[in-house]
Amino acid sequence: MTATFCEYKPGLEGIPVTKSSISFVDGQKGILEYRGIAIEELAKRSSFLETAYLLIWGELPSQQQLQEFQIDILFHRRIKYRIRDMMKCFPESGHPMDALQTSAAALGLFYARRALDDPEYIRKAVVRILAKIPTMVAAFHQMRRGNDAVQPNDELDYAANFLYMLTERVPHPLEAKIFDICLTLHAEHTINASTFSAMVTASTLTDPYAVVASAVGTLAGPLHGGANEEVLLMLESIGSVGNVEPYISNLIINKQKIMGFGHRVYKVKDPRAKILQELAVDLFSETGHDRYYDLALELERVIELKLGQKGIYPNIDFYSGLVYRKLGIPSDLFTPIFAIARVAGWLAHWKEQLAVNRIFRPTQVYTGQHDIAYISMSER
Ligand code: SDX
Repeated sequence: MTATFCEYKPGLEGIPVTKSSISFVDGQKGILEYRGIAIEELAKRSSFLETAYLLIWGELPSQQQLQEFQIDILFHRRIKYRIRDMMKCFPESGHPMDALQTSAAALGLFYARRALDDPEYIRKAVVRILAKIPTMVAAFHQMRRGNDAVQPNDELDYAANFLYMLTERVPHPLEAKIFDICLTLHAEHTINASTFSAMVTASTLTDPYAVVASAVGTLAGPLHGGANEEVLLMLESIGSVGNVEPYISNLIINKQKIMGFGHRVYKVKDPRAKILQELAVDLFSETGHDRYYDLALELERVIELKLGQKGIYPNIDFYSGLVYRKLGIPSDLFTPIFAIARVAGWLAHWKEQLAVNRIFRPTQVYTGQHDIAYISMSER
C-alpha cells in the first residue's frame, strides 16, 4: 500500500483554491477591494446594483449599461405564482434561510434549460437570480404572517423595493440609501465558506440555481452569515451595559465563541464593520438612539481588552444587525439579507469558475485501517 503525504490544513487555512480577480482582502491592514476599488469608495459612491455589475462583469458599467441592467432586473423581480404557492406550504415557523434555500433551488425547476457556454443564458440567469431572491425573501416573510406576498413596486429601486415588499411602506430615502450601502458591503468577500461552496457546486457544471442554493445553505451557519442574527440574540440576553463584562468573561472561561467577533483573515477590525458602525450612528442621529448600540460599544471595548492581542475584533456581522433592527427588520431576516447581497459575489465566482473549470476533487489523509475481516452478523 503506497501512502501519499499531503500536509493537512484544517479549514483549508491559507490554501489557495483558485486564482481570482474579483476581490482582495489584506487582513493585517484591514483592506477590502472589489475589482481593485476600495470598499470605502464603493460604499460612498456606488450603488448595490452598480457594484454587482462590477463584480460580475469585471468593470464599472457605462450609464447605458447600468440603466439596461437595472431595467432588466426590474422586469424580472416578480416570481411565478407556482413558486408563491409552493412557498405558502412552507411551515410558518421555518427559518427564512431554509425557505430561501428551498425557493432558490426551486428556480431550477422553472428555468430548467442549462447552457453554460451561452453568454445570453449566463446573463439571463444572473439577472433572474439577482431580481428574484429579494422577492422570495420578502414573500416568505409576508406569508408566514398569513399575508399574501407584496408585489414588487416598479417605482422603487432595488433596495427601496425590498424594504417596501417587506413592510408595505415606501421607505424614507435615507433608510433605502443605508440599506443599499449594507448590500454593497456584503456583496463579496474572496473565498469565504459560502463562496467556496458555490464554486464547488459550480465546478460540477450544474445549474446556477443549485449553485446559489448550496451557497445559501452554507451561509446560514452561525460561524458564517448566521452570526448576525446571533449577535442580536446575544445583545438581548446581555440586557444592560453593566452585564457585558461578566457575560463575556463567562463565555471566554467556557471557551465559547463570541458572535460577530473574530475572522479567519482579518486580524484587525473588519473595514466593513467600521462602515456599518458609521451607518448605524447616521441612522440613530435621524431616527433616535438605540440602547443596544451602547451595549455593542461596551462589548467591543471589553473584547478588545480581553482578546485584542489574539487579533479578535468585530467582523461584518457585528454592527449590521443594529442597522437592520433600526430599519424595523426582524432578526431572523438578517442572514437572508446577507444572502441577497452575497448573490452578487457567488455569481461572479460562478462565472469565473466556469471560465477555467476543473471539478473540485481534493484528497484526504486516511486515518482508518486496512484489511479488516468482515464479521458476520451472528458473531458481532
Ligand atoms: C463571516 O470568511 C469570510 O470572509 C466570512 C465573512 C464573509 O464576508 O463572507 O467575512 C462573513 O462569516 C464573518 C464571521 C461570522 N462569524 C462569527 O462572528 C462567529 C464567531 N467567530 C468565530 O467563530 C471565528 O472567529 C470565525 C469562524 C469567524 C473564524 O474561525 P477560525 O479562523 O477557524 O478561527 P478559530 O475558531 O480557529 O479561532 C482561532 C483562535 C482560537 O483561540 P485559541 O484556541 O487559538 O486560543 O481565536 C479564538 C479561538 O478560540 N477565537 C475566538 C473567536 N474567534 C476566534 N474566541 C472567542 N470568540 C470568537 N468569536
